[in-house]
Amino acid sequence: MIMLAAYLVGSISSAILLCKLLKLPDPRTIGSNNPGATNVLRISNKFIAALVLVFDILKGTIPVWGAYFLNLEPLNLGLIALAACLGHMYPIFFNFQGGKGVATALGVLLPIGLDLGGLLILTWVSVIYFTRYSSLAAIMTVSLAPFYIWLLKPLYMYPVMMLSVLIIFRHKDNIWRLIKGNESKTSFTKSK
Ligand code: G3P
Repeated sequence: MIMLAAYLVGSISSAILLCKLLKLPDPRTIGSNNPGATNVLRISNKFIAALVLVFDILKGTIPVWGAYFLNLEPLNLGLIALAACLGHMYPIFFNFQGGKGVATALGVLLPIGLDLGGLLILTWVSVIYFTRYSSLAAIMTVSLAPFYIWLLKPLYMYPVMMLSVLIIFRHKDNIWRLIKGNESKTSFTKSK
């Protein structure tokens, strides 16, 4: 039941809804075609992209946090976390065409501990600072996530590994563009 609720909450695409509300182009039809904060930044501004980012993080954090206080087993917590991320990636409300799950994955991992959250954010920020590729930052961060969890909370190793594989799979087009050298860089300085 909680897994279903987590999936449904994850299925609420803030990028699509906010763009619709603000009469912006549908993020699924422009830029990288990804309904996520990075693509919303391309078609709008930092403030709107930050709103999408915060909403997508919270829709991962809230179900897992709620379940945590119900004293559920780590395996069940992991399944709830996966359900929220799968909702974001394959949303029932939007023809199963969702995002890549990076912000929602961060959201589900934050309740595990601020040390883990800090490491993940530090990795993402460092890679984007040096490369300007949001996708590469995400790929590097989720690739290192199983290692961080192994160091800090090995109990959650398997769900985190599954999440990492899923997110890397969702970045297959980005990986291809990075290899070919035509992935677009992220700029935080422009304002439209
Ligand atoms: O979080 C999504 C990011 O990793 C890639 O976004 O729009 O460049 O495909 P995008």
